[in-house]
Amino acid sequence: MGEVILTMQDIDKSFPGVHALDHVHFDVRRGEVHALMGENGAGKSTLMKVLTGIYTKDLGSIIYEGKEVEFHNTREAQDAGIVIVHQELNMVGDLTVAQNIFIGREFMKGFRIDDRRMIEESKKLFDELHIDIDPSTKMSDLTVGKQQMCEIAKAISHECKVIIFDEPSAALTEKEIEDLFVIIRDLREKQLGIVYISHRMDEIKVITDRVTVMRDGTYVGTLITKDCSKEDIINMMVGRVIYEEPKTKSMCPPDAPVVLRVEHLNAGKMVQDVSFELRRGEILGFSGLMGAGRTETARALFGADPKQSGDIYINGSKVEINSPQDAVNAGIGYLSEDRKRYGLVVQKSVIQNSTMACLEEYISGGFINKKKERDVTEKYIAELATKTPSAEQLVVNLSGGNQQKVVIAKWLAKNCDILIFDEPTRGIDVGAKNEIYKLMSSLAAQGKSIIMISSEMTEILRMSDRIVIMCEGKKTGELGIEEATQELIMDKATRNIA
Ligand SMILES: Nc1ncnc2c1ncn2[C@@H]1O[C@H](COP(=O)(O)OP(=O)(O)OP(=O)(O)O)[C@@H](O)[C@H]1O
Ligand SMILES: [Mg+2]
Repeated sequence: MGEVILTMQDIDKSFPGVHALDHVHFDVRRGEVHALMGENGAGKSTLMKVLTGIYTKDLGSIIYEGKEVEFHNTREAQDAGIVIVHQELNMVGDLTVAQNIFIGREFMKGFRIDDRRMIEESKKLFDELHIDIDPSTKMSDLTVGKQQMCEIAKAISHECKVIIFDEPSAALTEKEIEDLFVIIRDLREKQLGIVYISHRMDEIKVITDRVTVMRDGTYVGTLITKDCSKEDIINMMVGRVIYEEPKTKSMCPPDAPVVLRVEHLNAGKMVQDVSFELRRGEILGFSGLMGAGRTETARALFGADPKQSGDIYINGSKVEINSPQDAVNAGIGYLSEDRKRYGLVVQKSVIQNSTMACLEEYISGGFINKKKERDVTEKYIAELATKTPSAEQLVVNLSGGNQQKVVIAKWLAKNCDILIFDEPTRGIDVGAKNEIYKLMSSLAAQGKSIIMISSEMTEILRMSDRIVIMCEGKKTGELGIEEATQELIMDKATRNIA
């Protein structure tokens, strides 16, 4: 670790009703990866937005390369050598990858944009970073993970001295995370100061040199990563230790009726002849590597993507599901992994988002029953411990993890009997994660049936009563929780891979 390149001192920032940063301290050294951790809503993104000129601070000072600075927008921060990769994707879907990378600084040929040159330059950049993406692809045709890799490449393409990654891994596959770590180590080697925000404890241990913890907008402390344990960090974050223990026995009675039967579902390459059953009160885990076809199976089942063939039975009767509306009518709710694209209207309030899947239930005599809407919303804010100053707050103003909780509230309010949770705790802090686990268990105990897609082995082993394993679009195994082990699951998850 080199000398300190950046110091933030006594930073204070308030939004209406929220004291987001309360005299926070943070510094970054050259050649270090510095983790910024804390529960959802602790103020991590806000602190980095203050640094990069997206928000103006109310108080405090920022010293960068020995001088006090104040940036008024990201452009100014960039020009000074500080770039940020945001938690939310900011790419323009209709433009190509290359156009996105060079947006605002396009190469010109006379009066026209030089698309060929931008594609060439992007190729060079991707080659350097070992990223395998064709720069002429339309952005919206890429997976969320690939879009995130483009954002990262774009940030690195600026000459910079400090780079901030705000939860980059939440959208990435295991393989992409490995690639990112190679890139980060290389940047560290080049003496950049790197800020790394993530909720994944294992990553923190692997990639970072120091950890700063925030809680409720305040600075808690800074530790040297190699000198502290996972438990130390969690303790600083939430003020208590949380243990994650695997489930040893199914909570679902063996004679529980089958509520959902999927037979020979086919939908493109990613869903080939998938069959399974889901019982009342059961949590059925879907495990597999990224790209195994789990989300695609869920989307085909939910009617979000067309299917070629396959039969779906609910409580023994065959149903036709050709659209999400059909699925919702059949009592299926889907909490998607990409909350922005499928789950939320971020420019609307927490109330509107929580109740939009079941608005008809609040309408009587042509009027919306505002009180009922509010009561339901407040109930879920309390139950999920969603951090928001009020039910009226626009979802766009909530922290990433709290947005996820609003998606969950939306489907809970709908009272669906079958819930599909797709990566339910991605981007969610350890404390809230526990709340969501408790909630899933209690939903199952109340007789709801849950399909839980998860890439986290600990989550699969902790929550599932039974586990379906997929690999490259096919179901490659099924295990009861009593017999499941990490090794058995991995073996089946890689079955088709040579
Ligand atoms: N533009 C805004 N308007 C109003 N409140 C805001 C705004 N941006 C952030 N907040 C609030 O400030 C607090 C801190 O949010 P922030 O996004 O910094 O959290 P975070 O630590 O990044 O959490 P996460 O891990 O969930 O991403 C939250 O209570 C959030 O709702
Ligand atoms: Mg954040």
